[in-house]
Amino acid sequence: MKILTILGARPQFIKAGSVSRAIAKHKEIEEIIVHTGQHYDANMSDIFFEEMQIPKPDYFLGIGGKSHGAMTGQMIEKIEEVALEVKPDWIMVYGDTNSTLAGAIVASKLHIKLAHVEAGLRSFNMRMPEEVNRILTDRVSTILFCPTDAAVQNLKNEGFERFTCKIVKSGDVMQDGAIFYRNLAVKPSCDIKDDFILCTIHRAENTDDETRVKNIFEALSEIAKERQIILPLHPRTKKIVKDLKLNTQNLTLIEPVGYLEMVWLIDNCSLVMTDSGGLQKEAYFFQKQCITLRDETEWVELVECGANILVGADKEKILSAYKNNLKFNIKNSELDLYGGGTASENIIKELISY
Ligand code: UD1
Ligand code: UDP
Repeated sequence: MKILTILGARPQFIKAGSVSRAIAKHKEIEEIIVHTGQHYDANMSDIFFEEMQIPKPDYFLGIGGKSHGAMTGQMIEKIEEVALEVKPDWIMVYGDTNSTLAGAIVASKLHIKLAHVEAGLRSFNMRMPEEVNRILTDRVSTILFCPTDAAVQNLKNEGFERFTCKIVKSGDVMQDGAIFYRNLAVKPSCDIKDDFILCTIHRAENTDDETRVKNIFEALSEIAKERQIILPLHPRTKKIVKDLKLNTQNLTLIEPVGYLEMVWLIDNCSLVMTDSGGLQKEAYFFQKQCITLRDETEWVELVECGANILVGADKEKILSAYKNNLKFNIKNSELDLYGGGTASENIIKELISY
């Protein structure tokens, strides 16, 4: 069986790492990897291939740093060429980026079976590029691998049981990775104080809205007066910080880190503040309270169990969540919300038996 895997952005490298390891155990499967080039800096791309031991991409398309239309369009054109040459049994896509959508469109046009890992998630906010990408991808998928019960339920609510597709609750491949890499964690070389807060901000809904991004940075500056905030800065955010001359004086800004350093930071921080999708769950895997700088989340089960609190980009809400000194309730970690590390193997078994 030939699987053509489409990757392009940081979270996809991390998700695909676990699945590639599972594929490698099955001699009957050949994985051919396409890197679209959506993320291209070494610390946003190459480092993950090395650390996660993902085989080198067979095709590198070099399509990054463009508008959404140009990026997605050019990816479709190039992925189609590759798919026609490789003739895969499956195209496999991850998550909700422009690279995901491009792979999905190619599969649907060429009548190649499409496996979508991380299907069924919804924020119900159609202004998010990710929401559009995931809805369109889900609709043309052959197998929808859902990480959670909520994701399965979203698909049922949208009538997917009537479509010619299969819904599978696989669990979350990011948990597989978190378990695997925990023991390989590497302490970053920056100055690190006890009790530090780990923060990431990069989502377009925050960085592309001047009021929101200013509010967030003002709140972070206040908090950082009493507690160190370490913020690995996504290139998108770095540009906004510079353009808007945001006050970052009290913050410990560092370059984006590799996953092994990230795992160390998550494991050793006292609190996570983020607008990242992946990091919200990783906080939970490492039993850390998460304050989410978004108005909604796809990981609703984390909010329901109190591990995650949504504060949007409202300065007062951010400060009040921080001051409330929220503590992760250890009992939450006993909930089996994400499959316990078996998702990649579940996905492979399903593909083999389909
Ligand atoms: C993308 C995903 C987002 C995901 C994020 C993970 C879409 C629509 N969005 O957002 O869902 O959470 O990746 O990190 O696909 N840039 C660099 N170097 C890089 C990568 C990006 O300089 O290696 C800069 C470029 O100026 C680029 C900008 O960041 O224009 C944004 O990159 P892009 O891939 O368009 O979106 P992300 O914000 O990274
Ligand atoms: N991450 C990383 N280094 C960083 C920032 C994030 O390894 O400097 C990891 C993070 O731990 C998570 C993944 O990148 O596993 C999530 O990617 P990101 O936050 O960019 O995207 P999202 O999950 O929001 O789509």
